Amino acid sequence: MNPNHSVLPIPAVPTMNSGRERLTILDTTLRDGEQAPGFSMTGEVKLRIARALAELGVDVIEAGFAATSPADEEALRIIAQEVGGGFTGPVICSLARANERDIRAAARALAGARRARVHVFISTSPLHRRAKLGMSAAEVLKAASEAVSFACSLFADVEFSAEDAIRTEPEFLAEVMEAAAEAGARTLNLPDTVGYATPEEMFAIFSAMRARLMPRFPGIVLSAHCHDDLGMAVANSLAAVRAGARQIEVSINGIGERAGNCALEEAVMAIRTRPDVFGVETGVETTKLLATSQMVSELTSAPVSRNKAVVGANAFAHEAGIHQHGMLADARTYEIMRPEDVGFAGSRLVLGRHSGHHAIAARAAELGHQLGSGETSAVMTEFKARAEAIGEIDDAELLAIIAAVTGPAPEAPAMAGLANVG
Ligand code: KIV
Ligand code: ZN
Repeated sequence: MNPNHSVLPIPAVPTMNSGRERLTILDTTLRDGEQAPGFSMTGEVKLRIARALAELGVDVIEAGFAATSPADEEALRIIAQEVGGGFTGPVICSLARANERDIRAAARALAGARRARVHVFISTSPLHRRAKLGMSAAEVLKAASEAVSFACSLFADVEFSAEDAIRTEPEFLAEVMEAAAEAGARTLNLPDTVGYATPEEMFAIFSAMRARLMPRFPGIVLSAHCHDDLGMAVANSLAAVRAGARQIEVSINGIGERAGNCALEEAVMAIRTRPDVFGVETGVETTKLLATSQMVSELTSAPVSRNKAVVGANAFAHEAGIHQHGMLADARTYEIMRPEDVGFAGSRLVLGRHSGHHAIAARAAELGHQLGSGETSAVMTEFKARAEAIGEIDDAELLAIIAAVTGPAPEAPAMAGLANVG
């Protein structure tokens, strides 16, 4: 065991002031995300993102897969030292196949981290055993147990994953998990590797696993790692949490193999917005979500869609007249989160052809024009014609319309409240 590594990387059942249990957030943007086509990152980019993830407050950064290439090992080494070298900060983790060579590569790469984790995996489903590994179930069981034992000789913190767990025979999956726990793994991950599960199935699988393992291994943490092939990664991860998972593996903007992984920002905000349903909390500083999402998007040249939950440009933007009227009366009519809580400056009332007179008059007032009812109708007529022609009406366009209808604008005062800005 590396003497620099502390023995208890994350408190077993951490509680915060609310009394809710802490959910460990393992971020795999730099591993599962980075290995997806089009998302390859240089060591320098990885380091920048790792720093941002540490600032964001994730518990574990899975920063790569040391054995896959010297470049990956080197990037892990630098992140371990620069981001994981201090007394505070996240655990730094490397993925490793269930063999000594991979685990040794992880140990070399992570030697500079104060808290290091190796994440050992082997496929367990009948299809993977036959087509990928050419191994029997008994051989897989033995390899998992031996690899975890060996990993525990080098690391205080060992996670074990049964790749394609969700398509594995339930009894065999439980036996592999028991063997891994007996060998010393403290985090047991059940990945939905191909994004096949439904939330109901995830709930049932995690409930059964919890009932079987927890009485014998009370200190273990069950973990979910969900892919998004059918668009259910977030729902599936949250179903696992409701069934007792206390770690989820996520990535910024949901990047990862094929359709990606569970999006960190969505899962974290669901947990925060619905404590009545999930009953756990995370250490994520949610006001940094938008900036982190934008950083990953820019550094990977992968734009975030406008309608993406939580961090998309439209997440707190409203154009329809009925919605704008509601927002002006009380933002809770159409928003379930505060935009400031995820890093937006505020809600945005976009003026366009769907907007109504309430929003146009309110924006005009913010720009220094108290329109009378006759003026509002005239401005509305011009506004609709212009919006049909050009789409969004920004402040300069609105002022030009008002000037055309009522005469030149006074000096605009400082803006307050809901903004019509990008
Ligand atoms: O999807 C998966 O099964 C994985 C494991 C290696 C954890 O990424
Ligand atoms: Zn994965």
